[in-house]
Amino acid sequence: MAHLSSIRVHSLCLPTHSLTLCVFLQGMAFSLPERQILGIHGLLPPKVETQDIQAMRFQNNLKNMTDPLQKYIYLMGIQERNERLFYRVLMEDIEELMPIVYTPTVGLACTHYGHIFRRPKGLFISIRDKGHIRSILDNWPETNVAVIVVTDGERILGLGDLGVYGMGIPVGKLCLYTACAGIRPERCLPVAIDVGTNNQTLLQDPLYMGLYQERDRSQAYDDLIDEFMEAVVEKYGQDTLIQFEDFGNHNAFRFLRKYREKYCTFNDDIQGTAAVALAGLLAAQRALGKPITEHRVLFLGAGEAALGIANLIVMAMMERGMTQAEARNKIWLYDKDGLLVKETDSNQEAFLHDSPGTVESFLDAVNTIKPTAIIGVSGAGRLFTHDVIKSMGTLNERPIIFALSNPTNKAECTAEDAYTLTDGRCLFASGSPFGPVTLNGRIYTPGQGNNAYIFPGVALAVILSGVRHISDKVFLEAAKTLAEQLTDKELEEGRLYPPLSNIREVSIQMAVKVVEFVYANGMAFRYPEPTDKDSFVRATVWDTHYDSFEPDTYDWPGQDVFITRN
Ligand SMILES: *[C@@H]1O[C@H](CO)[C@@H](O)[C@H](O)[C@H]1NC(C)=O
Ligand SMILES: *[C@@H]1O[C@H](CO)[C@@H](O)[C@H](O)[C@H]1NC(C)=O
Repeated sequence: MAHLSSIRVHSLCLPTHSLTLCVFLQGMAFSLPERQILGIHGLLPPKVETQDIQAMRFQNNLKNMTDPLQKYIYLMGIQERNERLFYRVLMEDIEELMPIVYTPTVGLACTHYGHIFRRPKGLFISIRDKGHIRSILDNWPETNVAVIVVTDGERILGLGDLGVYGMGIPVGKLCLYTACAGIRPERCLPVAIDVGTNNQTLLQDPLYMGLYQERDRSQAYDDLIDEFMEAVVEKYGQDTLIQFEDFGNHNAFRFLRKYREKYCTFNDDIQGTAAVALAGLLAAQRALGKPITEHRVLFLGAGEAALGIANLIVMAMMERGMTQAEARNKIWLYDKDGLLVKETDSNQEAFLHDSPGTVESFLDAVNTIKPTAIIGVSGAGRLFTHDVIKSMGTLNERPIIFALSNPTNKAECTAEDAYTLTDGRCLFASGSPFGPVTLNGRIYTPGQGNNAYIFPGVALAVILSGVRHISDKVFLEAAKTLAEQLTDKELEEGRLYPPLSNIREVSIQMAVKVVEFVYANGMAFRYPEPTDKDSFVRATVWDTHYDSFEPDTYDWPGQDVFITRN
């Protein structure tokens, strides 16, 4: 790799998230005058290349790679060297590449982080930095950050405690903010907070990159997060969106409660998951022509995810005129100790009902409660047995079956089982992707309840309209707009979510709807209120064409810049 001339550049320098002050960017696409001005003439092959050709080279190379981790490393390298090219290719082939840049491959990348490491990306803050977080933020080259994704690495995907290796998650998540909703990359800041790790493998690994200590669970940890939140607001303003990601369950809920009225924050694992699941249910209502109030939902799993979804369903039912008590009565939870009833020792009081009689298994629960929908969020594997699925098929003309646990081998049932055992009558969605299922000559396309349908659009709306606190109503609105965007034809194919290939437009339309909603409901603080919300949103969307470069209008303030070529 070349090094290059160190020159002074201003707006041309689109900073990337790397230690090199600023890495440049469009390689052989520089025109001859640009090359002369930049002093890089002769350092590139003579041809001036279009982005189309660059994209073709990039795509060909990707096609030749079979190992997902190898693809990940290659993609991340392009992200550093030519950000616009990276996002263009990512967007053009989002169905194929989202599983590389995000789950599942990003998980693999995180477990191997210290081993595949090329260059740091994102901001690292350790517990030893207590008292100095603001000055660390000042080291970040961007001053116009709007969205932060932060993790402490304790519960990375389904993989456990990866300590500072968890950085891959905020980096990957923010790629989706840009790819799906067109949020400018320099407005996104990935942060890893290192308070140690309890993962013994990492503590014994010489290549590990975080503090070699057990997790700090003392008051110092809480103080560090407090200080971080304050420093962010001081530096980037009070409507900076801070997304908590992959914290341990206990801390995730605690911080959400603690900060949601004070900061502009949300937790995707809780609220994003709830919205995407509700959107699936609402789409299923469309297919059934039966309002949500006429449904009875039985959850397998009674943890945070179940509760988040259940509460959002209650809100949707209340909007349709039910009382809270009536809505809650429509929802039952079943966990490893059985059906949750009044006598159960549980903190989910809202969903404890009178015992319907002896229930000894989940199958019993299905036969007793007679749900119209079952939603699996237990993370415990194939617990929607053949008998459970068949029962749902007997009880309902069109049973709703959501197997939302990740990854694929933890899903409560496969798409194939769900369709086959209900003669293709069920409405199925899963957390991890399943391929289409062919049954009696018909092709069924299972829905994937991917949070990426929700968080980019919500975030774009939030940052554009200056929302201070993100109420659950915003997620309810997002869920509704997602369900509405499904075409009748897609519904007929068995889809409950629009095709991923469409996600850019889905996210933008969601952002428009949410912007309308927050202004209409007094939640927006950016004035004046834009009259045409659609063009307001679309005008901000970042696109991946190279900026044209006008040597004449160029000023040259002093910032040292390195140029690299692709
Ligand atoms: C891809 O692999 C094929 C077969 O191994 C090879 O002929 C081709 O040159 C490779 N292309 C690239 C871009 O590496
Ligand atoms: C510990 O880290 C290793 C290596 O990153 C990972 O494979 C493993 O899943 C982690 N174990 C736990 C219990 O978190």
